[in-house]
Amino acid sequence: MDKRVLRERMRKKQQQLRRRKMMKLGGYVLAVILIVVFIIKGIILPITKGISGKDADKPVQVEADADKTTDTGETETAKAEEEEGAVRMPLATASHITKASDMTAGWHEDENGKWYQNYDRTYYAGGIQEIDGKTYSFDDDGYIQTGWVSDGFDDLYFNDDGSYNPEKHKTRIALTFDDGPGQYTDQLLDCLEENNAHATFFMQGINVGDWESTVQRMVDIGCELGNHSWDHPEATLQGISDEAVIEQFQKTDAALEKASGQRSTVARAPYGAAGEREFQLAQKPFFMWSLDTEDWRYMDVQHNIDAVMNGDLTDGSIILMHDIHEPSVQAALQIIPQLVEKGYKLMTVSELAAAKDVELQYASYVDFWDSSLAKGLVAGYDGPLLASDSSDGSSGDGSDISDGSQDDGSGEDYSDGSEEDYSDGEDYSDGSEEY
Ligand code: NI
Repeated sequence: MDKRVLRERMRKKQQQLRRRKMMKLGGYVLAVILIVVFIIKGIILPITKGISGKDADKPVQVEADADKTTDTGETETAKAEEEEGAVRMPLATASHITKASDMTAGWHEDENGKWYQNYDRTYYAGGIQEIDGKTYSFDDDGYIQTGWVSDGFDDLYFNDDGSYNPEKHKTRIALTFDDGPGQYTDQLLDCLEENNAHATFFMQGINVGDWESTVQRMVDIGCELGNHSWDHPEATLQGISDEAVIEQFQKTDAALEKASGQRSTVARAPYGAAGEREFQLAQKPFFMWSLDTEDWRYMDVQHNIDAVMNGDLTDGSIILMHDIHEPSVQAALQIIPQLVEKGYKLMTVSELAAAKDVELQYASYVDFWDSSLAKGLVAGYDGPLLASDSSDGSSGDGSDISDGSQDDGSGEDYSDGSEEDYSDGEDYSDGSEEY
């Protein structure tokens, strides 16, 4: 072979090698670029997002999504369904929670709290939702709520892990107001409504015609209509004929129905004087009280406040006041927010009965204390007669799990099971006292 041919071949070979080298290098460069992109996109970005939350640069795609979905339609849907339960909100709209483009369905936590991501890339917000057999409450931003949460009139307790605790309830008491309605009653209704509280009004039929819109409002805000006879006969119900007793209740019910479309569901006898005969004639459950403020006797705002706030507010108590007296209503305007603030739940007498598993009968009710239920003193209670163990000394400040009744022995007053105490009329019917 001659040298020239040899040199030519060498040159071609070198060219080939150089080309291969270039291709290899190109491949390396491409691989390195791909690896760098992968690291940034797959690892670094998610980490910075996780750390700095909303401050991390937002992917353009998410911003576009947000523009599309945070219109009014979305919020309207959320509001409409708030009453029933949580709604599913698209994650793309959630600028306040950690962007979860790389997160999986399930529970997540950021500096604002715990939230839940669904498989369809939504989160729960603005209501109550069952997840894996437990019930949770989500705020409007999608974070779980703990402690007391109001669900309409009800107060529900959620544990530290966000799960609902059905065992826990507030200390439940019933405020009752007699002898109205009157000129101060509307003010009282304002206060009840503002505090998400209910009360029972034992009204005299003779007063109803002048305050029909007030009675309608009682119904509208969840208060209970009680029948306190037509005109509070001084002879007491026990001193008048069967026909007269029936008329006292029927005329009052007719007036209530005309005012509000509803009859009374419960009754209270003038002077508390009633027995089996009156229960059957009126065909209603009759209510006494466990705490008498004696507001009509003192006619003093501070006396009334002290009588309630320092009184026995055991879970299941029934408190007696009179909304025809100004000092009573003025006191109630302070008592109601104070009780709510202290964690009490103010219910109607029928709500209290239902909360205690009592099916109301045509009988007399004094209180719904657990100790009274346990002693078998409460008609229509078929639940377990628990041993009346008051050793746990529940403080009654409204914030405990309040099954521990604080029976201080005053329950003895009613424990002979006799209704005679209230039916002989002696205590309340001397005419000088109001009730
Ligand atoms: Ni009365």
